[in-house]
Amino acid sequence: MTTDEDKREAANAAVEEIADGMLVGLGTGSTAAFAIHRLGERVRAGLRVRAVATSLRSFEQARAAGIAMLDFADVAATDLAIDGTDEIDARLYAIKGAGGAMLREKIVAESAARMIVIADGSKRVAAIGAAKLPVEVLPFARSFVARRLADLGATVTLRGGDAAPFRTDQDNLVLDCRFAAFDDPLALDATLAAIPGVLGHGLFLREIDSAIICQQGQVTRIDR
Ligand code: A5P
Repeated sequence: MTTDEDKREAANAAVEEIADGMLVGLGTGSTAAFAIHRLGERVRAGLRVRAVATSLRSFEQARAAGIAMLDFADVAATDLAIDGTDEIDARLYAIKGAGGAMLREKIVAESAARMIVIADGSKRVAAIGAAKLPVEVLPFARSFVARRLADLGATVTLRGGDAAPFRTDQDNLVLDCRFAAFDDPLALDATLAAIPGVLGHGLFLREIDSAIICQQGQVTRIDR
């Protein structure tokens, strides 16, 4: 089985948990794209759901697939969020945001009664921390926040580089951080949240209820 087949398998298993009448949060990235594709098939077969998306790209994909899309600004709570990840461990701690959508992903995950992460086996790790941790930053605070992150022991890179920096859907910047040690994710979460100018980051420590991981066609599920 290829990685893409594993992603599709995990995505399809999660989409099976969507029931008639639900308001669904749709994630971002290549694995989430498989889930959106499958949900579109189920909608065209008669499933009645509404959905919100964690990125403009996913919104457009879902709308084109025939899913009834809402503006999240009008939505206070969702029933189920389904999203990919860059790393996930047995504690259901994850690092997300390689696609730059982590701020909207975190908001939609928090809005959801239940969140399922979907992944191929390469994303499963003993303990998160090897992946770069993306931090979304107000452009005004870019240098100040980069300095604070470096003081925390991170090697900090502006995503896209100085000449053509990557912009999020909110038009902010992303600082990718490589931490030498990643001993206390909960403390790091709190520290990052307290830096003025940090608008969000890719550490997901409380939001995920279940992970569906497919490795070589074998589906494993981890529940909180
Ligand atoms: C988007 O910002 C990310 O959080 C993605 O969900 C994550 O990077 C996983 O993407 P893939 O499914 O493409 O690996």
